[in-house]
Amino acid sequence: MPNIDNNAIYKLSYGLFVLTAKQGDKDNGCIINTAMQVTATPLQIVIAVNKDNYTHGMIADTGEFNLSVISTAASFELFKHFGFQSGRNTDKFADFAAFERAENGVAYVTQGTNAVLGAKVVSSVDCGTHTLFMAEVTFAKELSKDSSMTYEYYFANVKPKPAANGGSKKKFVCKICGYVHEAEELPADFTCPLCKHPASDFEEVPAEKKKKKFVCKICGYVHEAEELPADFTCPLCKHPASDFEEV
Ligand SMILES: Cc1cc2nc3c(=O)[nH]c(=O)nc-3n(C[C@H](O)[C@H](O)[C@H](O)COP(=O)(O)O)c2cc1C
Repeated sequence: MPNIDNNAIYKLSYGLFVLTAKQGDKDNGCIINTAMQVTATPLQIVIAVNKDNYTHGMIADTGEFNLSVISTAASFELFKHFGFQSGRNTDKFADFAAFERAENGVAYVTQGTNAVLGAKVVSSVDCGTHTLFMAEVTFAKELSKDSSMTYEYYFANVKPKPAANGGSKKKFVCKICGYVHEAEELPADFTCPLCKHPASDFEEVPAEKKKKKFVCKICGYVHEAEELPADFTCPLCKHPASDFEEV
């Protein structure tokens, strides 16, 4: 077994992008964090896309895509819209107004983004779960002066933190990389944003039983437990359970 410290893997830094494609009348797009420039002459970029993504098939078939660079002005809504549902069973552009069509006919996102690049696939590498598409950039346009959003910024400032009381959300842990996703339910088409494994590689973390607080009316000592045993004695003033009340 290779000696892998996931904390080392998390140190790799990424940007975030809306990857869009068009096949026939169908527009679609998904969020990716795996895009980078490879060469300047010719100007080539590479993207890694999960084969389960509907966008993957569209790019494999058409050989064309746009990459909208997400900026720090983007809200979590953008990630939910393009990253937490699949174009396989929804039309992501039906209720989405913040886009324009580029010269290649493919849509790109105009809000919460700072640039768009259009590209044509020149080669691809089968990486098992993902395909690496190498593509030549056909146009590039700056959309705003906002800073690009990094993956780290997304986790620190955009992705909602779990509610303090846990709310009605459950925790699902990725058995492959340990990433914990909090949601009421895990969508069947969910993909781990870290290791890209599917929903079937997640398991629900059993909910912790909620602890109550019991305060000793005599000395003020607070005891935290699911229940206060009848024979409990205050460790400070030695008074019995009957002298405690629930906070
Ligand atoms: C923050 C974030 C980063 C993601 N990074 C990638 C990625 O690099 N590659 C990928 O294939 N999917 C990635 N995804 C998952 C896809 O965006 C997601 O599965 C999407 O619903 C696929 O949509 P589609 O089926 O319409 O193509 C990411 C999702 C999020 C929220």
